Amino acid sequence: MSDSRSGIRKVGVLGCGLMGSGIAQACAAAGYDTVVREPADQAAALERGRAGIERSLAKLVEKAKLQPAERDAALGRLAFATDLGALDGCDLVIEAVTEDLAVKNALWRELDGRLPPRAIFASNTSSLPIADMAVVTGRGDRFVGLHFFNPVPLMPLVEVVRSVTTSDATLAAALAFGRSLGKEVVVAKDASGFIVNLLLVPYLLDAVRAVERGVASVRDVDLAMQLGCGHPMGPLTLADFVGLDTACRIGDIMFEEYRDPRYAPPPLLRRMVTAGMYGRKSGRGFYDYGVEPPVPAALGL
Ligand code: 3HC
Repeated sequence: MSDSRSGIRKVGVLGCGLMGSGIAQACAAAGYDTVVREPADQAAALERGRAGIERSLAKLVEKAKLQPAERDAALGRLAFATDLGALDGCDLVIEAVTEDLAVKNALWRELDGRLPPRAIFASNTSSLPIADMAVVTGRGDRFVGLHFFNPVPLMPLVEVVRSVTTSDATLAAALAFGRSLGKEVVVAKDASGFIVNLLLVPYLLDAVRAVERGVASVRDVDLAMQLGCGHPMGPLTLADFVGLDTACRIGDIMFEEYRDPRYAPPPLLRRMVTAGMYGRKSGRGFYDYGVEPPVPAALGL
């Protein structure tokens, strides 16, 4: 398909982790030819991503949110590649690799030389400045932020981030593209954290501080926010879901930007990351996921 206002037909997604695979799934389900890429030494991540997409699409069919024919069509539009050359011909590239500017910019430099100037580049970064990536390409006007939320196939929002170099036409194309995925779109300035993480990150870090200071147990902090505020997940369950390593990294980047202690990861979070307790993805974080339902982990508090 082609989005009539943005002229986008083929989408490339860099990174097939939790976010990249979810973004690729959303693009393919919305009718775009989609190619998702991991480097050759990460071919296992591509396979995990493919399996995750198949599971997610199967779940949506099971819940009658998708017809079996639509699932098959979405899978037919998806390609998995290790070669960057597979992204040739893309009208839009969405980057969802690790939150490391050097890694992201190495990819942008290479793609800038490969793809025609009309192609739009978008980053799914949670907290790095869009301008820091736009400047390494010759297409600052066609560079934008497209920030998705986990789990991408279910979360109905995309933050569209306009940097100082982003043109009106690129902003309009990005908004039209987000809507074409069936998402609601909001526009944010290129300030670390945009809207959601500006508010969410201090909240998650405050929940860790509450546990660290012995205000309440992990279970009670989560239950309080779920039942007292109607949140679908308590903050510590959500931090585990986002990934404690990711939450810590985002906090560090936001602290660097604002020098505001609200964004500084508390010692407990750092110790957990050091110990490999990354949350749901590593099997252990504030909860132990080795049992069903997960139970609060022993944190030595
Ligand atoms: N694809 C398809 N189906 C999925 C899915 C996916 N990726 N993930 C979950 N589901 C299904 C579940 O399997 C479940 O199906 P079932 O009812 O048949 O068992 C159904 O969706 C509902 O899931 P759950 O039973 O686990 O429970 P919930 O009703 O709580 O829904 C949720 C799950 C939508 C994830 C909900 O808990 C929620 O909204 N949580 C908050 C998520 C959130 O805040 N995300 C943003 C994180 S911040 C971020 O991403 C930004 C980054 O920069 C940090």
